[in-house]
Amino acid sequence: MAIDSIPTKGRTLDHAAFVYDFLEPVLLMGKQAEYDRKILSLLDPAPTDRVLDLGCGTGVLCSLIGARLDGASGGFAVGIDAAGKMIQVARKKRSGPSCRFEVMAAEHLSFEDGYFDAVVSSLFFHHIPLDLKAMALSEAFRVLKPGGKLVIADMHIPTTWMGSLVSHVSRWFFMQPQIGENIRGVLPDMIAAAGFEPPRRMADFFGYITVFLTTRPSIPMA
Ligand SMILES: C[S@@+](CC[C@H](N)C(=O)[O-])C[C@H]1O[C@@H](n2cnc3c(N)ncnc32)[C@H](O)[C@@H]1O
Repeated sequence: MAIDSIPTKGRTLDHAAFVYDFLEPVLLMGKQAEYDRKILSLLDPAPTDRVLDLGCGTGVLCSLIGARLDGASGGFAVGIDAAGKMIQVARKKRSGPSCRFEVMAAEHLSFEDGYFDAVVSSLFFHHIPLDLKAMALSEAFRVLKPGGKLVIADMHIPTTWMGSLVSHVSRWFFMQPQIGENIRGVLPDMIAAAGFEPPRRMADFFGYITVFLTTRPSIPMA
């Protein structure tokens, strides 16, 4: 059954949903497993954790996270994406007892405050403009528990000439100014401005993707 998309200023990928699983390994230069493993190792979820994946696409990373969680004890991963067709593919291929998918815009999350132990996003922030980046980060902050983790893997200031070439060609080929914002390096300051601890740079992939780790500060003891 077709699932409606959510209107958003973000660049959704309904048109690519049915080929995305073939495209992503190319974008990740055959190292998707290594890339996903790095993100998982930083998240390091406990079996009972609740984890939110922003802009989950067809749900590959979300299902790997779900496999580490114990649905019977309340642990689960939920992937959200504004593209109905992405969620359709994700549900069909990757739903499970500890993994589900919802159509939702990252800038307007319907979850209650402090609901999640961790929030993750991979290759999502270069799809949304600056105002939505700020809104999505402030929503991630709101739905995270104090002390909860945020892991963001996305395009950032390129670290190699090849990474620079890929970044600038994608920005102009896809006519995507949101990529331009990322490669100017806006993410770390925006993450901190949303209230998170200053993000730590944990890994770089292919000269154009950086993985950041931060936390929502814990509430100080009285
Ligand atoms: C490049 S894909 C990344 C998918 C997946 N996380 C991955 O690592 O392969 C970016 C995704 O963000 C989604 N998206 C764009 N704007 C969005 C928004 N405002 N809220 C939620 N998802 C959005 C797109 O539909 C697309 O599926």
